[in-house]
Amino acid sequence: MKRDFLNISDLNRDEIFQIIEYAVKLKKGEIKDQTLKGKSIGLIFMKPSTRTRLSFEVGVYQMGGQPIYIQGSSTQMSRGEDIKDTGRVMSRYLDGIVIRTYSHSEVEELSRYFDKPVINALTDYLHPCQILADLQTIYERLGKIEGIKVAFVGDGNNVANTWLIAGGLVGFNVSVATPEGYEPSGKAVYEAFKLSEKSGAEIQITNDPVEAVKEADVVYTDVWVSMGQEGEKEKKELFKGFTVNSDLLSHASKNVIVMHCLPAHKGEEITEDIFEKYSDVIFDEAENRLHAQKALMSLLFK
Ligand code: CP
Ligand code: NVA
Repeated sequence: MKRDFLNISDLNRDEIFQIIEYAVKLKKGEIKDQTLKGKSIGLIFMKPSTRTRLSFEVGVYQMGGQPIYIQGSSTQMSRGEDIKDTGRVMSRYLDGIVIRTYSHSEVEELSRYFDKPVINALTDYLHPCQILADLQTIYERLGKIEGIKVAFVGDGNNVANTWLIAGGLVGFNVSVATPEGYEPSGKAVYEAFKLSEKSGAEIQITNDPVEAVKEADVVYTDVWVSMGQEGEKEKKELFKGFTVNSDLLSHASKNVIVMHCLPAHKGEEITEDIFEKYSDVIFDEAENRLHAQKALMSLLFK
């Protein structure tokens, strides 16, 4: 049975901790994992990327495999070849696919027609590889994940949706504050609440950033305008008050850490001084994309 990673909840709680611990060992150089020896992994990108593309290309190579970067616009998909045929063709060549695209349902469809693992490298709905690396970063910084409070402030986008589901699954508290009309997806909120019945996580959705960051151990933000939403620039006016700055952070826990998935638009979702103050954490997140994804691939491709 092939295993995909389309949603953070495609892993169970124990597997998430297993991946984090393995990623920490890979990072320290304690293990050299060659799970991808002789395997070719297609990296399909329909949107731009710096971190995700590089960390997967380097990660696949370090694990003995061949990464093949496939820019969406250079394929027949850009001329209308459907996912059903693309998936069946790719099954004949590739051992795995990493895909970044717009609609989440396209990735689900690709998974139905591709007979080996598919990894979600960001859709409009979710960004699970990011949150896996962020959980590693939190584990390294705070020494624990369960029971902490993560406050997400900004746009209720793919990253916010994934935080909610991750909290419900693993058992940490997540509070998401967005302006009215920019709340996270109802589907993600529902999944988070469902999962929290078992894990005991507290899930909160609010339009008040001060309420969200109260006693938070982690304050997290992301761009106000995500890829594919560039036409929505006027929404920046509505996001006033949702900037992560020193005033807002005065309501968080004394030892709060600030995280950002990058790229950042300094002066919008985060002030430059706060970004620089927490830049060690933020660039650790970027580095951990490499280690966490290698640990993930080791599990999926075994
Ligand atoms: N955080 C993240 O996914 O970055 P890229 O868009 O550069 O891949
Ligand atoms: N929400 C952002 C994340 C970028 C990594 C986007 O989708 O553009």
